[in-house]
Amino acid sequence: MISCLVPGSFDPPTKGHLDVVERCAGIFDRVIIAVVANPAKQSLFTDDERKELLRDCASQWDNVEIDSFSGLLVDFAATKGADVIVKGMRAMTDFEYEIQMSQMNRHLSGIVTMFVATKPEYGYLSSSLVKQVAGLGGGIDSLVPEPVALALKEKFADDS
Ligand code: PNS
Repeated sequence: MISCLVPGSFDPPTKGHLDVVERCAGIFDRVIIAVVANPAKQSLFTDDERKELLRDCASQWDNVEIDSFSGLLVDFAATKGADVIVKGMRAMTDFEYEIQMSQMNRHLSGIVTMFVATKPEYGYLSSSLVKQVAGLGGGIDSLVPEPVALALKEKFADDS
């Protein structure tokens, strides 16, 4: 039984994130999506909201579960018995930061990080840009799963 951990902020989850999860669900026996609870970082959605959105978006895969963590990712991976960390890689701009984190995590615990190249059509997608576009009234329906599009519209309607 090989399991992987897919960590991230997921504020909010995008179609790029779900593409990575789908690939992992087809390769690994067990996939744990790990939402970072980061009190220092101002997030649009609370930890619980991000987990709930991921549950809605990943319900079609029996081997995918959602959890959240604070503290070191490698400690959480050990707690969950995860064999591998998986991150999506969009472009060279992601490379330097991702390779640095993967090497630090390897140094800390020896855990392996694997990278999944995102679909080219999602190469420009990021949660930050999605939030910016949604906040300014732009169309985001093709960029995020339906439950996320609805949640974004509600969030920004509340703010206005
Ligand atoms: O979605 P993101 O912002 O790319 O996710 C980054 C994340 C959550 C994977 C990273 O910030 C992380 O691992 N945070 C936990 C704290 C930690 O372990 N830091 C040392 C990493 S080298």
